[in-house]
Amino acid sequence: MTYSTAPVPATICGPGALGQIGREAAALSRHARVLLVADPFLETQGLLAPALAALAAEGLAVSPFTAFTGEPKSTHVAAAAQAGRAAGADLVIGIGGGSALDIAKLATACIPGAPDPMAYALAATPLPPEPLPSLLVPSTAGTGAESCATCIFSGPDGRKLWAWGQELKPRLVLLDPELTVSLPPALTAWCALDAFVHAFEASTSARSHAGAALHAHHALRLIPKALPRAIAAPEDLAAREALLLGAFHAGVAIDNCGTAIAHALSHGAAALAPVHHGLATALGFGVSLRWLVARPTPQIEAAAQACGCPCAAALPEAWEDLVARCAAPLALPEAFRAVTPEALVRAVSGPECAPMLTAHRARATPEELTGFARAMLDTAA
Ligand SMILES: [Fe+2]
Repeated sequence: MTYSTAPVPATICGPGALGQIGREAAALSRHARVLLVADPFLETQGLLAPALAALAAEGLAVSPFTAFTGEPKSTHVAAAAQAGRAAGADLVIGIGGGSALDIAKLATACIPGAPDPMAYALAATPLPPEPLPSLLVPSTAGTGAESCATCIFSGPDGRKLWAWGQELKPRLVLLDPELTVSLPPALTAWCALDAFVHAFEASTSARSHAGAALHAHHALRLIPKALPRAIAAPEDLAAREALLLGAFHAGVAIDNCGTAIAHALSHGAAALAPVHHGLATALGFGVSLRWLVARPTPQIEAAAQACGCPCAAALPEAWEDLVARCAAPLALPEAFRAVTPEALVRAVSGPECAPMLTAHRARATPEELTGFARAMLDTAA
């Protein structure tokens, strides 16, 4: 079997990496005009100030865009692109969680290309040949948006959509653990568990290959060790750095091989009521893991060993132990009490989820899917 691997963005990693943003941005921007897409939370907490000062010190004119909340929408991307175009930006910087990074990535295409990102939804039209360069700084360790070619966003009808292209990847990623220490414990856990599932699913699906497993197994070694440390001591910069690296490499893994059934359950749930992506994904993984490891493959065994388990059969207990050490109960929000297992199975069975639902060699029967859905919904507060 042959396989190909996607490019991995350049990184600068370690405490204080954000301090290099001015010099690096100046090297990427010919006209010294920058669109900065940043998480509003970072602005209100004063965490953007050092980056803004570093950019100003290099003589860069910065147009900030922080007018978004929650999951990214096509309207957010269009507004960010309009701000960038009005400012004559030739570089886009994204600082924040996955939403900020996805808005920044897609704005790189919409500024020189179509003003409405719906033009690029589901590859409706090709991306412009030369999107603007971008520099991304994740403030959470989870989505891997900084290392993959996909942007997730909602369209006008609320449906989750994607845009994809190697052109959307950043020129440079700054992984600075100091930026993540203020993340509350529950969000730290949900984001890291999402990254863990990225690595596990990318390395165990039928699409998996050795080039992706290299990155996925590295993430599987890092995250289970680092997450309990980051929860117990939020300012443990070594643990925070390991989580950022784990999420980055897990993002590389899904960039190559995609996700699987836990993400199908997560996306299906998100279509029915608001829920944090990492929380829903961790729940989807937990309810389907025993079913999956009862059908072991060499890839599942290898992933188990990367996690430090002697064999695949030991994975469910290790997962439950990891979740227990997060001190963040995994439970769906109250709105899910009105959702039936049948409704969740219908949502999971839609065309958007099909590639994830069928990614593993094992296929869940309708009865098994209903059981997963019921187990997820039973957690609703
Ligand atoms: Fe995910």
